[in-house]
Parts: sequence; C-alpha cells; structure tokens
Amino acid sequence: MQADRDRLRVLVSGATVIVADPTVTIDEELLKAAGPDLKLVANFAVGYDNIDLAACRDRSVVVTNTPDILTNATAELALTLTLAAARRLSDAERDLRAGRWTGWDPGAYRGLELTGATVGVVGLGRIGKRYAALLKGFEVKLLFTSRSSNPEAERALGARQVELPELLGQSDVVSVHAPATEQTRHLIDAGAVALIGATGVLVNTSRGSLVDLDAVADGLEAGTLGAAGLDVYEGEPEVPGRLLAAPRAVLAPHIGSATFRARDAMARKVAENVNAVLNGSEPPNRVS
Ligand code: DGY
Repeated sequence: MQADRDRLRVLVSGATVIVADPTVTIDEELLKAAGPDLKLVANFAVGYDNIDLAACRDRSVVVTNTPDILTNATAELALTLTLAAARRLSDAERDLRAGRWTGWDPGAYRGLELTGATVGVVGLGRIGKRYAALLKGFEVKLLFTSRSSNPEAERALGARQVELPELLGQSDVVSVHAPATEQTRHLIDAGAVALIGATGVLVNTSRGSLVDLDAVADGLEAGTLGAAGLDVYEGEPEVPGRLLAAPRAVLAPHIGSATFRARDAMARKVAENVNAVLNGSEPPNRVS
C-alpha cells in the first residue's frame, strides 16, 4: 500500500531504523524527518531504487536489502507471465468470464509456442539467470545481455551474449531483469518495442521505469507488439488506462516475490539486518 507522506514523516521522526519497501521513497526529506538517530534503512525488497543511496551515505545511514531468497519466486513469475502472455491467457479468460466464449474455434487465441523459441534475457543477474535456467526444459535458444562479458554464463546456460538491439531483433520473448538506474530508464522504448515486433512477447518483472508503457500500449493497440506480460509499472500503483484496455496484455500487480516462502524469508532477512545494526555488527545484506 502506498504510504501517505505526511504520516510517514511523523512515523519516522526519531527512528533508529526505517523498514521500507518499494512503495516508500526514502529521500533527503524523509531522512531529515527521521533525524540524527537514524542508523539503518532496511529495505523489504531486493531492488532499492526507492532509496537515495547518496543521501543515506551523507548521513552515515546504512542501507540493506533482501537478495537471493526471492530469486526463485520472481523468476517463476517471469516464466508464468511469459507463458500467459505468449498464450493470450488474459484475453481468453476475460472473454470466458464475460460470456463471450462461443465454443472451440481453430483460429481463436493463437499464440507463441515457447518450446524451441528464442528467448532474450535482458540483464543476467540472479533472477535473470534463474529465469534462463527454468527455461531449459523448453529447449529454447537463449540470448542475453550483461554489463560485462560473461563467458561462464554462456557455457553454463548454453546461451549467447549479444548487444541489446540484436537481442531485441532476434528474440521471440524478451524478459527484462536489469536494475532500475538512470541509464536503464526506458531501456524498452518505442524503438525497442518495434524491434521486439508483431510476434514478439515482452515480459517485465524488474522495475517499471525500464519500460515505456506508452510505447507498449501503442504497440499492443497497433498490433506491432505481439504481447506483453508485466508485473511492474512506472508510476505504480497507477496503471495507464490504455494498457488496461489493450489486447494481448497480462498484467500483474507487482507480485514477483509474493510466495509464502519468499515473503517469510524476506521478513527474516530484514530482521537479521536490523538486529545486526542495532548490535553494532556488520549487517549481512548491506548495499551501502
Ligand atoms: C523486490 O524485492 O525488488 C521485489 O520487486 C519486491 O516484490
């Protein structure tokens, strides 16, 4: 739930620790409202683009996150969205529920068969790697982008590292797993959507800022983008009406890590980080 800023400023006043999540923007203003006793911002998430790391550093405030334990959950959701978008599951279910299904139709709801398809993984961090590994059973051809040369991953995954334009142009499915930074904002823009193309499937379980939602809505409306499976949105929880109405889109409400196992483990990790800082020791998951 999106926290009310006025209430947050009051809540954090005098705090030693702030436990935040992706909906809470930790900026200069909130740090100031917390005051000089603040020692730690413990994020209940692996991503920490909601936190101004420089402002925390300036105030000697430690920042921690919850890596690893949500890798499987998020990679599994990316696979779920891949299959659901490829097979137009939202359109089909919506029609059935609305009483628009008139019976088996050889031409209806045709989509992409994942087996043997080319899948492009944008960003080969923990979650991107796990997603790629989960795809093995589908005998896909794997491409990936990575900031640095990664011959080991090429060998381990039987994948080929390429530049982004090649990946976008050659993949039947493009799944985004890169972190949100200034450099990755709208990495998937109108040009990228055009390269993914009329039969291509775009999946995003990373952060909303990486994908230009107008470009995706344009592509879905015009039929120049095959399908989209999205879990995150720039400006969430607002989701553009055009996207909600667009065909061939499977839209989830940021549930990448929403399994019982992952969320319990995330809570435990937050507690470990908080305890460590309060006891004066190094927290296990310091990011800054
Ligand atoms: C994360 O940990 O960054 C996830 O997006 C939260 O669900």
